[in-house]
Amino acid sequence: MIGRLNHVAIAVRDLAASTALYRDTLGARVSQPLPQPEHGVTVVFVELPNTKVELLEPLGAESPIAKFLERNADGGIHHICYEVDDILAARDRLKAQGARVLGSGEPRIGAHGKPVLFLHPKDFCGTLVELEQA
Ligand code: CO
Repeated sequence: MIGRLNHVAIAVRDLAASTALYRDTLGARVSQPLPQPEHGVTVVFVELPNTKVELLEPLGAESPIAKFLERNADGGIHHICYEVDDILAARDRLKAQGARVLGSGEPRIGAHGKPVLFLHPKDFCGTLVELEQA
């Protein structure tokens, strides 16, 4: 059911320093910072040949990654995103198998303008999973 790895999202405290690390130390191609107030983050996209890494810095008081950074002072992997061909069929299949879909269970428009859902980390090896419509 799941397809390509769309991205790995890493929560960071200092987006400029983290961007410099990926650009200068690791030699990766990085985007300009992109504020996404509707998602409570500022994002830098790290473009790799086969996938993306997204560096996420909290934006605003309601940022969904603020609590994560309270627990993980150095930052860390926040979620991984897999592509699915049919997000509603994927959701229904997962729910039928007992997996918990976060929020209302209805897909929201994610950071790439496509419908996304998040799955409870306790159901997936301790990892928050994002599904994105391919
Ligand atoms: Co994501």
